[in-house]
Amino acid sequence: MSVIAMLENRYSTRAYLDTPAPQELLETIFAQAQLAPSNCNVQPWQTCVVSGKKKDALKDDLITAVMSGKPANPDFNWLPKYEGIHRDRQFGSANALYNSIGVTREDKRGRQLAMIRNWSFFDAPHVAFFTMDKYLDIMGAVDLGIYAQSLSLILTEHGLSSCMQGALGQFPDPVKKALNLPEQRGILFGMSFGYADESAPVNTTRTDREEIANAVSFFN
Ligand SMILES: Cc1cc2nc3c(=O)[nH]c(=O)nc-3n(C[C@H](O)[C@H](O)[C@H](O)COP(=O)(O)O)c2cc1C
Repeated sequence: MSVIAMLENRYSTRAYLDTPAPQELLETIFAQAQLAPSNCNVQPWQTCVVSGKKKDALKDDLITAVMSGKPANPDFNWLPKYEGIHRDRQFGSANALYNSIGVTREDKRGRQLAMIRNWSFFDAPHVAFFTMDKYLDIMGAVDLGIYAQSLSLILTEHGLSSCMQGALGQFPDPVKKALNLPEQRGILFGMSFGYADESAPVNTTRTDREEIANAVSFFN
């Protein structure tokens, strides 16, 4: 599949089959993702891939943390209040998701339930947490973003689907405990992945993109 075809076919997948990918394939995929470029080749990503019983236990701990009512405490500055056109697009993507599963704007509980699915990893068989040393801050965040998109495209080539999730960095404490992460390490975000459940209504969610006239300026 060409890169363009992959970009055209990929979408954020929020329902999965209960079919884990073989460990050998996971190792191939993550070895290929190591080819991602990074500033000065520092390769700041420290990726934790969680599957099986460990993933199920972590899901329970995360849901407990989220439901406790305590505010999110991300390791990095990741609670932006979007403004103007960014806010409009944020609402647009949320509406596309809610429309696909028949949740109305007034249905607060339905929206909350859809949100909580983030921390059950949308029932995916695997979840990756993208972590890095906290001091790297924005320099590392750029590299981790590039790494994550490379990974997402490699997964697509291998027939796997994924969803990047800022939500997975919002309640880092249970994750750090379960994965025994050192104090200086922060969780930037995560990604659920596996084989898509093509029959799930949520996987009909599609988003649009701005015209290039409003995104790109050409200068001569
Ligand atoms: C860095 C990043 C964080 C994201 N966080 C979440 C998230 O926490 N939960 C979620 O359901 N989708 C999340 N998404 C998916 C976006 O909502 C999605 O990429 C966007 O709406 C465009 O839709 P598409 O990926 O289907 O093309 C995230 C995407 C990115 C790139």
